[in-house]
Amino acid sequence: MAINLAVFLSGSGTTLENLLGCIAHGDVDATVQCVVSSRADAFGLERARRHGIPAIAVPKKDYKGTRSFCDAIWREVDAYPVDLVALAGFMSLLTVPDSFRNRIMNVHPALIPAFCGKGMYGHHVHEAVVEYGAKVSGATVHFVDDQYDHGPIILQECVRVLDDDTPDTLAERVQAKERELYPRAIQLFAEGRVRVDGRKVYVL
Ligand code: GAR
Repeated sequence: MAINLAVFLSGSGTTLENLLGCIAHGDVDATVQCVVSSRADAFGLERARRHGIPAIAVPKKDYKGTRSFCDAIWREVDAYPVDLVALAGFMSLLTVPDSFRNRIMNVHPALIPAFCGKGMYGHHVHEAVVEYGAKVSGATVHFVDDQYDHGPIILQECVRVLDDDTPDTLAERVQAKERELYPRAIQLFAEGRVRVDGRKVYVL
């Protein structure tokens, strides 16, 4: 049976678009019930509207702190039946209600626990990897807990960093890997094949 998703984002929404493509193609058995953005001007909201999906802005700048901002988000989400929240370029710390423990996923454009944490998102990650001289990077799909990029890892794969890579060329290769890994992790969840035991995730 198809699972119900809520997608949280802050930016252009290419991750959302890829997910919707995979759903339309029958690779992910899910329905996106709503899209929530931490910025009113995120293009991801426009993408959601074009697909006829409720697009909700909860601008972070309107709130004093993380707690009140997240409470407002969860109040919005309450109106929909949601099995899994998929973060898709959501650039803010999220408080995790007990009822959503191990039911929120994120995709990070590096090999966690390297090149992650506060301030390490989007293009900053690829700049840091190239600058550091790392030989591999990759994509990580993990469950979300109350710390940045910290919850149990579900899927993780490498891409090579080439000698002549720029942050842009590396980003392209990593994002291709994300486009493959994230829908796969969501589909595994939909099939009930993801079991969490402490920090370990077993794919059944
Ligand atoms: C994606 O590459 C995603 O991995 C990254 O932001 C990009 C969002 O692109 N997320 C993070 O860095 C989270 N720590 P999009 O807005 O076009 O979907």
